[in-house]
Amino acid sequence: MPFFKSFPFGALCLLGCSFALAESDANLESRQNVLEGWESPSYYPTPLGGWVPEWEEAYAKAHAVVSNMTLAEKVNLTTGTGFFMGPCVGQTGSAERFGIPRLCLQDGPLGVRNTDHATAFPAGITVGATFDKQLMYDRGVAMGEEFRGKGVNIHLGPSVGPLGRKPRGGRNWEGFGMDPSLQGIGSAQTIKGVQSTGVIATVKHLVGNEQELFRMIFPIQPVGFLSKPYSSNIDDRTMHELYLWPFADSVRAGVGSVMMAYNDVNSSSSSQNSELINHLLKDELGFQGFVMTDWFAHQGGVSSALAGLDMAMPGDGAVPLLGTSHWAGELSRSVLNGTVPVERINDMATRIVATWFKLGQDKDFPAPNFSSHTDAETGLIYPGAVVSPIGVVNQYVDVQDDHNTVARAIARDAITLLKNEDNVLPLDSNASLKVFGEDAGPDPQGLNSCADKGCNRGVLTMGWGSGSAKLPYLITPEEGIKAKAPKTEFHITDKFPRDIEADPEDIAIVFINADSGENFITVEGNPGDRTVSDLYAWHHGDELVMDAAEKFSTVVVVVHTVGPIIMEKWIDHPSVKSVLVAHLPGQEAGMIADILFGEHSPSGHLPYTIPRSESDYPESVSLINDPFKKIQDTFTEGLFIDYRHFQRTNTTPRYPFGHGLSYTTFSLTSPRLTPVTPLTEYPPPRPAKGTPPTYPDTIPSASEVSWPEGLTRIWRYLYPYLDNPTSIKPGDDYPYPEGYSTTPKPPPRAGGAEGGNPALWDVAFTVEVTVTNTGAVSGRAVAQLYVELPPQVVPDTPKLQLRQFEKTKVLQPGESEVVRMDITRRDLSVWDVEVQDWKVREVGKGAKLWVGGSVEDLRVVCEIGGECGDA
Ligand SMILES: *[C@@H]1O[C@H](CO)[C@@H](O)[C@H](O)[C@H]1NC(C)=O
Ligand SMILES: *[C@@H]1O[C@H](CO)[C@@H](O)[C@H](O)[C@H]1NC(C)=O
Ligand SMILES: *[C@@H]1O[C@H](CO)[C@@H](O)[C@H](O)[C@H]1NC(C)=O
Ligand SMILES: *[C@@H]1O[C@H](CO)[C@@H](O)[C@H](O)[C@H]1NC(C)=O
Ligand SMILES: *[C@@H]1O[C@H](CO)[C@@H](O)[C@H](O)[C@H]1NC(C)=O
Ligand SMILES: *[C@@H]1O[C@H](CO)[C@@H](O)[C@H](O)[C@H]1NC(C)=O
Repeated sequence: MPFFKSFPFGALCLLGCSFALAESDANLESRQNVLEGWESPSYYPTPLGGWVPEWEEAYAKAHAVVSNMTLAEKVNLTTGTGFFMGPCVGQTGSAERFGIPRLCLQDGPLGVRNTDHATAFPAGITVGATFDKQLMYDRGVAMGEEFRGKGVNIHLGPSVGPLGRKPRGGRNWEGFGMDPSLQGIGSAQTIKGVQSTGVIATVKHLVGNEQELFRMIFPIQPVGFLSKPYSSNIDDRTMHELYLWPFADSVRAGVGSVMMAYNDVNSSSSSQNSELINHLLKDELGFQGFVMTDWFAHQGGVSSALAGLDMAMPGDGAVPLLGTSHWAGELSRSVLNGTVPVERINDMATRIVATWFKLGQDKDFPAPNFSSHTDAETGLIYPGAVVSPIGVVNQYVDVQDDHNTVARAIARDAITLLKNEDNVLPLDSNASLKVFGEDAGPDPQGLNSCADKGCNRGVLTMGWGSGSAKLPYLITPEEGIKAKAPKTEFHITDKFPRDIEADPEDIAIVFINADSGENFITVEGNPGDRTVSDLYAWHHGDELVMDAAEKFSTVVVVVHTVGPIIMEKWIDHPSVKSVLVAHLPGQEAGMIADILFGEHSPSGHLPYTIPRSESDYPESVSLINDPFKKIQDTFTEGLFIDYRHFQRTNTTPRYPFGHGLSYTTFSLTSPRLTPVTPLTEYPPPRPAKGTPPTYPDTIPSASEVSWPEGLTRIWRYLYPYLDNPTSIKPGDDYPYPEGYSTTPKPPPRAGGAEGGNPALWDVAFTVEVTVTNTGAVSGRAVAQLYVELPPQVVPDTPKLQLRQFEKTKVLQPGESEVVRMDITRRDLSVWDVEVQDWKVREVGKGAKLWVGGSVEDLRVVCEIGGECGDA
């Protein structure tokens, strides 16, 4: 094929290419796999980092250092040293002359993965359900302190991609909910918290990783060796208004790194997609940090470098542990032979070193003191090498501090009360209670009995995969309930005991769950995504509820779940009085007792819609399971996912997005709208780019990447060095991608600062609402602000879109709080595909700002250019 060629250490990838297998000619595919109309345009060269004022100082320091670096040192920072070649899930090489150690990269979004004495925080979806910005931030700080305490430089979280387009998607629970604003706010708060401790946060996965099935190339994909990554085909407007949105918030929050997704976007592998990295991320969003691959997602050496990738993780090509890489020595070669511009390798190294300085890691940052690979105190220093020095690998540093305080607050304030007939909840601790379900108890095989939570036993505290963490301890619902209601009878079984006695005053509490996770583990037939469990409770949970409901006249259902489940089999049963969704609480699952017995009123809200039937969703968000061909997953529903779709099709959900009851009631009154920044149709012109540091562009001396004398080589370890580098001569016959250029593009008008044109964040209006506790007990309320753009001027726009929220403090009966929510220019804009900028039609006139307790429970409204009043 004219567009492809393979090389011993990887493949060249041109526009639209995505599935070249390392060290094989056989699997090269051609552009015929691109779906017509869904090409990814070329965007070259990579914009240099270092042009925003906030990063100027860090870039100046980095420039001073990188100026003196050899090619080997630069390449060292860009390439992982190989899978299992150090204590963390990934580590770079070092540049010790400048005090830059091997940087440790470690999962995951809810705590330090695979270690001891670290907090297993509630998962992202739980954090989203709190709708509490302070708790989002506090969890970030606590996690940052723990990663730092273990010596982790780069925290692999938060996750905002998947966004939750597919309800069965395996990893939705790692993020904050099925809405871009909720994800964006959750992500920004987490990043600010984590980075306040000096740890670099990594927002992931850019972008369109909406299902687990066939996300990757063989051999990691367990289902079949014919599998290829699917292509997420996303149009420009949907990209900006949904999928890129939380990444914009993350870049604006100053995130230090971005991880690309496994899948292709428009048939071009995410890690070498120049439109995604060079254009959208680095130019338009003004990202100043560094971009890494997901693990083994690196497919092309030169192509990824040109497309803007800065770091290959864990360094290996698609086949781990062969000691080969698309980068490492091959990146050195591609610089020496003139194919990858010197400017590009300098920019990669500068971005990484600048981020390290920006986060202050040049001062007193601890080295890793744990091993991701073993619990033993001593072990192989390089487990991937098999023959490796042995030493102390685990120091068992306790990093938990008092972080259980924030973990408990989140677990509690996320619990979402869906239904509470006859005010059955809260329960009297003297009531006659019978608890059913394995989900109330511990894992019978022991805490952390399966790796990466790849099993569903006992209470579901988190999903499975790299987004999991070991539980340092677990307070089960059983323990939590026992502590408050010692007389409770427990039946920790999913088989309803037929012979049980039920007295009329008895209350049954039934615990059920639904799990999902990452594709490298299959649990009870589900390869990450919920393929065989459908959207139903696992372990015959629906039957357990129905059996209890037949026998007991009062049933309370508690659900631990990764996302929406269908409750139709029992939700209208007259005995099922109350339902609580406790999401994924982490180690503090016992907090459910606080809510059950009314110590606190529930204050969580659904971060997604609960449907009546799976057929309520658009067809296009079903999983695509086809092992025999390249999957084209075209996002034909556009902006209409989750509640946006339900509203468009007038489908009544079982419970709407944002729904959550309390033991008290709240009124929302006195809405006030204050105009702040007058809007124009388009934002004012972007600020000009600052001047990034530059370097001479002479090709370095080949001797800089010769093997150092006396080096004891570790087998299969990845080095920047080459045999006989002086024989490498610049060549000019490299078949660059179509549209390749080294002349910088004019800066995109939608850019200008981290996150895009800073004017997008101008506050256009402030909405104030008085929230009053009108009930008899204390509680916290969430005010959710939904924007309605006038439909006649903005076609194909969802009726309502969440753009802001605020949670009150604990309000006593009769007490009020005025909540204030800022609505920005971006919140009122749509992406103008032609002009490539954000546009406010009719300068916002006629737009309505609704505030309520869910997307279907709107209480007050302010019309821009009009009045405020009751909804
Ligand atoms: C994907 O293709 C669509 C349709 O041509 C286009 O609007 C969009 O900008 C492309 N996105 C990327 C990242 O290539
Ligand atoms: C770089 O090298 C120059 C000349 O050898 C030296 O003066 C300078 O201190 C070095 N800078 C750094 C940051 O190492
Ligand atoms: C590259 O990193 C390795 C550690 O992975 C280190 O041993 C080596 O000295 C580094 N090379 C240079 C040139 O600094
Ligand atoms: C391990 O953790 C302790 C406490 O956080 C820290 O002081 C130390 O520097 C870390 N690294 C090593 C290699 O001990
Ligand atoms: C330069 O080296 C890289 C890495 O091995 C290779 O992919 C590329 O084809 C080489 N360029 C030329 C012109 O040979
Ligand atoms: C429960 O019963 C005990 C003993 O009968 C009594 O002292 C206590 O006040 C009761 N508690 C509640 C919450 O009713």
